[in-house]
Amino acid sequence: MGSRIAVIGTGYVGLTTGACFAHLGHDVVCADVDEAKIERLRSGEVPILESGLEEMVREGLRSGRLRFVVGAAGAVRDAEFAYLCVPTPQGLDGSADLSYIEAAAREIAPHLPPAAVVVNKSTVPVGSTRFVEQALGRSDVFVVSNPEFLREGSAVTDFLHPDRIIIGSDDQSAAIRVAALYLDVPAPLMVTDPASAETIKYASNAFLATKLSFVNAIAAVCEAVGADVNDVVLGMGYDKRIGHEFLKPGPGWGGSCFPKDSRALLYLAKEAGYHFDLLEGVISVNHEQFERVVEKIRRMVGTLEGSTVAVWGLTFKANTDDLRESPSLEIVGRLLDSGAVVRGYDPTVRGPLDQLPGLQVCDDPYAACGGADVLAVLTEWDEFKWLDLDKVGEQLRHRQVVDGRNLLDRSALARRGFRYEGIGRT
Ligand code: NAD
Ligand code: UGA
Repeated sequence: MGSRIAVIGTGYVGLTTGACFAHLGHDVVCADVDEAKIERLRSGEVPILESGLEEMVREGLRSGRLRFVVGAAGAVRDAEFAYLCVPTPQGLDGSADLSYIEAAAREIAPHLPPAAVVVNKSTVPVGSTRFVEQALGRSDVFVVSNPEFLREGSAVTDFLHPDRIIIGSDDQSAAIRVAALYLDVPAPLMVTDPASAETIKYASNAFLATKLSFVNAIAAVCEAVGADVNDVVLGMGYDKRIGHEFLKPGPGWGGSCFPKDSRALLYLAKEAGYHFDLLEGVISVNHEQFERVVEKIRRMVGTLEGSTVAVWGLTFKANTDDLRESPSLEIVGRLLDSGAVVRGYDPTVRGPLDQLPGLQVCDDPYAACGGADVLAVLTEWDEFKWLDLDKVGEQLRHRQVVDGRNLLDRSALARRGFRYEGIGRT
């Protein structure tokens, strides 16, 4: 017998959570404030690019185990569990803005059945379990932390096959009830106190961001000393304590979470009396990395003013259509500010973009190269590896490539007379 679960917020995390819980046999109602989104979801249309998610939503609709409603109140009336999956954006001072969490908690409070468990799945700072308890103002319901570790682009697989499940609660019976929801998920399950669960989430994201800034800094060293960062990380990764994962140099890290979560942890630590210099360094190395890529492009063309730059890849990484905090858009913004004409292409993006009206978005990777002085590859879409380099060369005004993801075949480019610069390879 499945449990009755309400999911508040149908974004990357909420929709994945709802569809996957329905797949696992639970009875799920997903709520959102966005009426148009709920309308599309009811007809089985998933508004984001997420591999396997649409199939899973349709499966849930067919089985009747997955329903969609407008407004959180309507979702929780029969719920044994209410999962909060609403945004926790960066506040003006760097802290996590809990206003969506608070609003959702206040909205569901009068409608929750007694003994219901409210679960924080949004990424929330230490103290949020207590914060939600206060916002609910109900002594007969429980609040449990159950942070989410999925990645965009592989959200469904990550949810159903996670590396671990973390549950933070001061009440053992509530923790056991949440643990039981994951009975069919093969993963180590750890129960701890709420503060530790909340810290595990921030520490994990910050550690991953640290790995990336470290490798981007090593790439800069490689350029200075004449080493090849791809070989360096391969050689490092054979050490099992280091591993091969998450060591690809790039134009800087971005996305909807790493930037805001690293800032939130910095703020949280400072408020608690610890100045997290290391994490501050990780963030500043990342900003330097954006500028290093801009510099590479500038050096290639001489002056950016009046030059045309073709950009392949606008999303924050491949296999997602998410543009939030994309390093590519950060770099494009800096190029535009320096007076360059920028023509971009991304398989998931159609222009123009509100946030960068000056960017010309092309529907075709070759068209983006038309008359450009340099091509910059900023997102690692697989299709870019297989494009016709002769055709690319014919389109460009100058055969020059800055490869921000070390993606293209540099020997093949050299044979065609391209100047090439990657990241961390001379
Ligand atoms: P999102 O912006 O994609 O979706 C949030 C949804 O919540 C939106 O559809 C919004 O309309 C809805 N919403 C806001 N207030 C609401 C309310 N009162 N009632 C009902 N719906 C409401 O956000 P996301 O990327 O899914 O992230 C949600 C949380 O999960 C954040 O805290 C984030 O840090 C965390 N997280 C995200 C990821 C990720 O890969 N995106 C991974 C792990 C954790
Ligand atoms: C990240 C974490 O990987 C998830 O575990 C976490 O749940 C999530 O944040 C979150 O809390 O929202 P995601 O933002 O989807 O997931 O993206 P990642 O795959 O981690 O990539 C983040 C950034 O790092 C991207 O800009 C990506 O291009 C970059 N990256 C990643 C590299 O430059 N090199 C790598 O080797 C890996």
